[in-house]
Amino acid sequence: MQRKWLWIEGRKAETEAYETLSAPYGGAPLAEVALASEADADRAIAAAVAAKPAMRALPAHARSAILERLAELLDGRREEAARLIALEAGKPLKAAYAEVDRTVQTYKFSAEEAKRIHGETIPLDAAPGGEGRLAFTQREPVGVVGAITPFNFPMNLVAHKLGPALAAGNTVILKPAPQTPLTALFVAELLAEAGLPDGALNVLTGDGKLLGEKLVADPRVDALSFTGSVGVGTRIRAQAGLKRVTLELGSNSAVIVDRDANVDAVAERCAAGAFSYQGQVCISLQRIYVMPEIRDAFVEKLKEAASRLRIGDPLDPETDVSAMISPRESERALDWIEEAVGRGAKLAAGGTLTDGVLAPTILLDVPHDARISCREAFAPVVLVNLAESIEEAIARVNDSAYGLQAGIYTNRLDTALQAAEALRAGGVLINDIPTFRVDHMPYGGIKESGIGREGVRYAIEELTETKLVIFNRNA
Ligand code: SIN
Repeated sequence: MQRKWLWIEGRKAETEAYETLSAPYGGAPLAEVALASEADADRAIAAAVAAKPAMRALPAHARSAILERLAELLDGRREEAARLIALEAGKPLKAAYAEVDRTVQTYKFSAEEAKRIHGETIPLDAAPGGEGRLAFTQREPVGVVGAITPFNFPMNLVAHKLGPALAAGNTVILKPAPQTPLTALFVAELLAEAGLPDGALNVLTGDGKLLGEKLVADPRVDALSFTGSVGVGTRIRAQAGLKRVTLELGSNSAVIVDRDANVDAVAERCAAGAFSYQGQVCISLQRIYVMPEIRDAFVEKLKEAASRLRIGDPLDPETDVSAMISPRESERALDWIEEAVGRGAKLAAGGTLTDGVLAPTILLDVPHDARISCREAFAPVVLVNLAESIEEAIARVNDSAYGLQAGIYTNRLDTALQAAEALRAGGVLINDIPTFRVDHMPYGGIKESGIGREGVRYAIEELTETKLVIFNRNA
């Protein structure tokens, strides 16, 4: 079986311990993956610190060219990259190809944004005493970025950390999810081939807790960018002291379907938003609030759309839904489904686990405080509940610990505007599900969904410092 080393100072690095990584679907062993020790983490951080001058010395056009070259290299190996994602994350190939294509876009946007990082002039003479001074700001890299990424988009969410961080001239220590280290290591090699200075990217695979805590605690790490669970994000924030912290956390995203919506088209789109990649997406559609007039027709169409989804091996190009990331996670989701049914919810589809795959599941009339409604399901499960009015639906959507993205389907302009104003989320989608993202838009949440924004330009803002320069012409 192939052995996967750490990546430190621009090359593969041995360590003492390795562990077998297995595929979520079928359980085949994929590789022996390095378990970085605290000493390895120390070496990686030292390498990132040592590479700071080299990164700062690179002009914007050179940083841009590296990222552009990376995008080209990745595009050239699209097939291999998609298979790697499908294997280690259990992501159906169709979705894995889409992820590779988005990753190429993310690095291209990063290459473009690298050339647009700038400050502004400040009219100091707007204040008495400020006369005779020329002032401007410039944006400087924060320094060393600790990037911690999840399993669900092992290539594109890594790109959302690396692209902006490197575009801005930072160095990075990347800790990919323990379930999906292979894609991260694949990209590290491509970045070296694209000409990134040694040490500007270091990859630590292994025990999430040990490595995460080291990155959070080490004073040489200047900023942390984390995508993952609310629990871990909250701990990072509590322990990070004065470090910059960006957190992209969970959600139980919802959509409202008004009485005038096109039921067929909306149901089709809702099935895609709820069941793509087994619902293991932060903006996966988890809750649907429909008006009474269309509820029965909507549920029928949603069931039809779910029944057309092909279940099976992620490497089969026809597969739509495969195994969740681990048996433990599918058991947990089943437990939440059973709890809801035990409390009066109706099972309209799914709810079964076959060959390790949880079937796309539709629940009706779910109590608001059942875990499958009020917590992040991160599973192929969606609930449909009645709302008697748009006001009630908005209140239901907002009665959540989370606030990442929310959607509404309506043909009434006043209702759309009312929802855009009243829905408490980082993004509101009119006539679409919340499960929409392209990679340059601002993306992030409020409440327990996180702090700060990604989307290349916005992430660059999080990973740069504003420096003010004043020329005193009176001296
Ligand atoms: C996420 O799950 O946080 C990312 C969703 C996406 O990029 O589409």
